[in-house]
Amino acid sequence: MTHTTRAANLLAELEGLNEQQLRRLLVEHLTRQKLGLYWEASAIERDAALNADLVLPRLVEELSCSPSPQPPLPQAGEGWGEGGFAHRNLIIEGDNYDALRLLRATHNGKIRVIYIDPPYNTGNKDWVYNDHYVGANDRWRHSQWLEFLYRRLTLARDLLTPDGVILVSINDENRSRLELLMDEVFPGMRLGTMTWRTRQGSNADQSCFLSVDHEHVLVYGNEGFSFKGFEKSYEMYGNSDNDPRGDWRSDNLTLGFSYKERPNLYYPLLDPATEIVYPPNPDRIWVYASRDRLKAGQALQAKAMEEFIELGQILFPKEQRVETWHTMDELLAAIDRGDVPKSGKTPLLRRDLPNLEYWVGRPVGFGRPQFKRYKADLRNQTQPLSSWVVPTFEDGGYEAENSFVSSTNQEGARVVAEIFGDRAFNYAKPLSLIKNLLSQATRPNDIVLDFFAGSGTTGQAVLELNAEDASTGSAQVASTDSTSSPQAGSAQVGQRRFILCSSTEATSKEPDKNLCRDVCAERMRRVIKGYGGKPGHAGGEFAYLQLDKVEAADAHFDIDAAHAYQLLALKRLGVVCSVPEGAVKRLGRVEDCELLLCLEVNAATLETLAQWPQRTGAARLAVYSSRPKSLREQLAARGIEANCYSLMDALMSGQMGSAI
Ligand SMILES: C[S@@+](CC[C@H](N)C(=O)[O-])C[C@H]1O[C@@H](n2cnc3c(N)ncnc32)[C@H](O)[C@@H]1O
Repeated sequence: MTHTTRAANLLAELEGLNEQQLRRLLVEHLTRQKLGLYWEASAIERDAALNADLVLPRLVEELSCSPSPQPPLPQAGEGWGEGGFAHRNLIIEGDNYDALRLLRATHNGKIRVIYIDPPYNTGNKDWVYNDHYVGANDRWRHSQWLEFLYRRLTLARDLLTPDGVILVSINDENRSRLELLMDEVFPGMRLGTMTWRTRQGSNADQSCFLSVDHEHVLVYGNEGFSFKGFEKSYEMYGNSDNDPRGDWRSDNLTLGFSYKERPNLYYPLLDPATEIVYPPNPDRIWVYASRDRLKAGQALQAKAMEEFIELGQILFPKEQRVETWHTMDELLAAIDRGDVPKSGKTPLLRRDLPNLEYWVGRPVGFGRPQFKRYKADLRNQTQPLSSWVVPTFEDGGYEAENSFVSSTNQEGARVVAEIFGDRAFNYAKPLSLIKNLLSQATRPNDIVLDFFAGSGTTGQAVLELNAEDASTGSAQVASTDSTSSPQAGSAQVGQRRFILCSSTEATSKEPDKNLCRDVCAERMRRVIKGYGGKPGHAGGEFAYLQLDKVEAADAHFDIDAAHAYQLLALKRLGVVCSVPEGAVKRLGRVEDCELLLCLEVNAATLETLAQWPQRTGAARLAVYSSRPKSLREQLAARGIEANCYSLMDALMSGQMGSAI
C-alpha cells in the first residue's frame, strides 16, 4: 500500500468518528509519544520473508569441508550417529533473515558471541530489501535499513547465552541511528562502544568537512558478560624494603571529590610516629575514612585509615620540610604568601577552608603521604579501554597495554588478496580487529555467529584463535560438554565454533553470483589448507548449508528425511552430518540416552528399536516419529520404555513465532 493510499484510508476512517471519539484518539496519540527512535515501519512494505513458512537446512556435501585424514568414526553407543563426520562449524548460504529463523529453532540461547558488520546504508546499493537494492534516492531508505536490521537483531537477541554479547561494526554516519535501534532491541544491555582507525592518512575527497578515519563497534551484552581483560603490567612493582608481603608500589592516597562533596573524608592526617600532621587536599579528599570520624553505627566498606597506618601501608614522607605556625596571624601570612603545603600547584591551606585554627601550633608536613599498594591485592586483569582501538602503527605507545589492537581496512583487503590472489571482496574487515575483539569476548568453547559474514573474516579469526590457544596451551582440551564430538577433544586446539551466514549477492544482472560459495566458503577452505606459506588448520572443517523453505500447510508432504535429520541433529547436538541409511536413523547420544529418528512405524522398525538398548548399551531411548503415541505403546508392549516425540512438533518449534 502506498503512502497516499494509507493516508486516504485513514482520513476515511476518521470521518466516521464523532467529536468525543476524535478527542480521545488525539489524547491517546499525544500521550503515546516515547523517547527513542522512530522509523516509518508501517509505511514500508514488510520484509518478504514473513513467518509463514518453515526454514529447513540442506547439507551440500560437495561444498563442505572435512578434515583429512578423517578421524575414525566412533562405535555405536560412543558418540555420533552413523552419518559420518559431524561438522561443528557452519556456513549458511542465503538471506540471513531465514538463517536466523533457522538458528532461532536450533541455537536459541546457545551463542556466546555475535559479531556483525552489516551493510552501512551508504546509498551505494550495498544491501537488498525485499529483493531490490536500496539506493541513495530510495524514499524510505533509512526506515527500510532500520526495519531490515530491527527484524534481524530481534531474532539474533534470542540466540545469545545468558552471558552472551553482540558486537556491531558501524560507520560514524549511521552510528547514532543504529545505537538507538540497539537500545530498542537490547534494552538495558548497552555496555559501551569502541572506536577504531580505519586508515592512516586523510581522505582524498576534499569536499568532506572532516576527513573521517574511524568507525565504531557497539557492544551490547547480557548480564553475565565481561571481556577477558588484559594482564596487568607489574613493571612499577618492587620490594626495596624486603616487605614480607611481597612486591608493592607507592600509589595515590586521594580520590577526585572535593571536601564539600565528601566532608567525612576531609580531615587532617596524623603520623602517630612523628606527630607531624598533613593537610588534606580540598579538591581531592583521602581515599579511606578515619575511625575517629565515624558516626554511631556507621560501618566501613574498606579498612580505616588508622588500620592502614598500623599495618605500615601509609607511606609518610621521610625527608621533607616541616613548619609550625605559632599564631593564626603567622599561618594567614603564610597562606597569603602561598608558602603552605601544596599538591602540584594547589595550596592545601586557604583562608576560606574550615578549621584553620587546627594548623596553628602543630608540626605541619609539606610532603604528601602515599599508599603502599601490594601486587598480591590486585586483580590481575584490567578491563579494556573503550575509548580507542589502538592502530597497529601506534601499538607499543599510546595506552597499548589494555587496549584492543587493530590494523586498518588495508589489512582486510591485503589478507583477502593474499588468499585469492586478487580483490575477490572489497569490504573485508581487518583480521586483527576481529581477532582481538573475539580474543577478548570469547572463551575457548564458545560459538561465534556472524550473520553478515561477507568474505568470512570472522571464521578465519575463530580458527586462528583456536590455533593460538593450542600453541599457548590455554584451550580446554577435554570438553565436559556431552554433545562434543570425539574428534574435537582429541586434538590440542581451542574449540570455538563459527557459524557464518552469507548472501549470494546474486542479482538479475548477475544471476550466477555466489559470494557465499565462491568467497566465504572458499576463503575458509584455503585458510584451513594453508595459504601464502602460512600453515593450515589441522582439524579445520565446516558444513555448507543451503536453506529450503516449506509452506507450513505443506510441511507434512514437503519435509524429507534429510531435512528432518539435519534439523534435529542441529537442534539436539549442534552438529551436521550426512544422513545415514535405514528407516531408523541414529542422531547421536546425550549422556546415556540414544537419540533416534524413526521415519516409519512398522514391524521392521519396531524390531530394530526394540533391540536398540541391548545393542548399544543405552539406558534410554528418545525417538522422533510422526506417530509418537502409537510408537510408545507398541514399544511398551515389547517391554521397551522410550520417550517418543512428535517429529512435526520438533520441526515446527522455534519457527513461525511459536514458543520454543
Ligand atoms: C560489510 S560486508 C561484511 C564484511 C565482513 N565483515 C568481512 O570481513 O568480509 C556486509 C555483507 O553483508 C551481506 N548481506 C547484506 N544483506 C544480507 C542479507 N540479507 N543476508 C545475508 N548477508 C547479507 C553483503 O552481501 C555483504 O557481504
